[in-house]
Amino acid sequence: MAETFGSAAALLSLRSPDHPVVCIRPHLIEERARRVVGAFPGDVLYAVKCNDTPVVLEALWRGGVRHFDTASIGEVRLVKRLLPRASCHFMHPVKSAEAIAEAYHEHGVRRFAFDHEDELAKILAATDNARDLELFLRLAVPGQGSLLSLTGKFGVAGEEGVRLLRRARTVAAAVGLTFHVGSQCLDPEAFARAIAIAAEVAHAAGGVDHLDVGGGFPARYRGDEPPFEAFVRRIQGAVFAHRLDCALQCEPGRLLVADGASVLARVELRRDQALYINDGVYGNLAELKWIGPLFPIRLVRPSGVVTGERAAFDLFGPTCDSIDSMPGPHWIVREVKEGDWLEVGMMGAYSNALRTRFNGFASSEIAILRDPGWYRPQADLAPALAA
Ligand SMILES: Cc1ncc(COP(=O)(O)O)c(C=O)c1O
Repeated sequence: MAETFGSAAALLSLRSPDHPVVCIRPHLIEERARRVVGAFPGDVLYAVKCNDTPVVLEALWRGGVRHFDTASIGEVRLVKRLLPRASCHFMHPVKSAEAIAEAYHEHGVRRFAFDHEDELAKILAATDNARDLELFLRLAVPGQGSLLSLTGKFGVAGEEGVRLLRRARTVAAAVGLTFHVGSQCLDPEAFARAIAIAAEVAHAAGGVDHLDVGGGFPARYRGDEPPFEAFVRRIQGAVFAHRLDCALQCEPGRLLVADGASVLARVELRRDQALYINDGVYGNLAELKWIGPLFPIRLVRPSGVVTGERAAFDLFGPTCDSIDSMPGPHWIVREVKEGDWLEVGMMGAYSNALRTRFNGFASSEIAILRDPGWYRPQADLAPALAA
């Protein structure tokens, strides 16, 4: 059971931890969920892979999220155990027969994704040729406009898509199309381009009942990312322009939870402008490497947040592997020294979900914080861009 504190400084003064702590702010997650569910004209499926911590899932539920994009039977079991009335949708295009059977027969899952005829056959066999399946064909779409591309692994295009969709229609109660434009997508046009591709397949195959526009909506790392509402407007415009008469759904991960958690990590050594800290790429901070030095970082001591002139630092994680480095510029108060704590903000997405035990660094402590959180100071942006 995670303990609750008023702030990161209070946690440090009351607990004196010697390992990283993931600090979750459920009130922010709940608030964000309410806003996203209110703005989207269809079902909002939370992508559980992004952060499957129970307090996160419960906060999303309180914020009105009722649907979950589950990519493994482990995620289905977790969601149904915590939130028995939630709907799980198996949106991973490749699943084991056992996982499909358990999802269908024991957990009430009806929506399944596929992108190959053998997967379609597997879904039918594992559900005893069920007549109430809702089958979503995953389309390949371009990944321009996103920081993390998801092209290259799943999805079909063109004639093959039309053929598979027609085939699915003969066996399913409803059919849909789904795609993913890539994570942290900064360009609403990427969704319009993907919808144009989906419309072509849909019309050629005689229409669809559902369109799932996937995830990829950006979290507010820099502060100048287009808001979710701008994406919704572009999606609705493209759906209308392409005469798609179907129900909509989306699968946000990062958008819903990124600003709902931070990570506290301690400085173990300062070498000039390099800080060696006790969390890193193999722990909670992988995204500092993969999407770069976009994250707000503040210096926290048990007495409070330290402010002052900032300087650019590189960060290094605790393991021996040189992959475990998070090149800057990370803008941190210049006076930072060994024993200080860095609070890395915007760490709700793909943080503790990606953590490993590599090299014996296995801390899994989670705390709940009641403070309002914070965003990256805009003053940081200009030097970060210039560097
Ligand atoms: C099928 C699917 N849906 C949704 C998501 C969530 O994406 P994001 O966190 O960028 O919104 C992912 C992420 O990998 C995904 O693979």
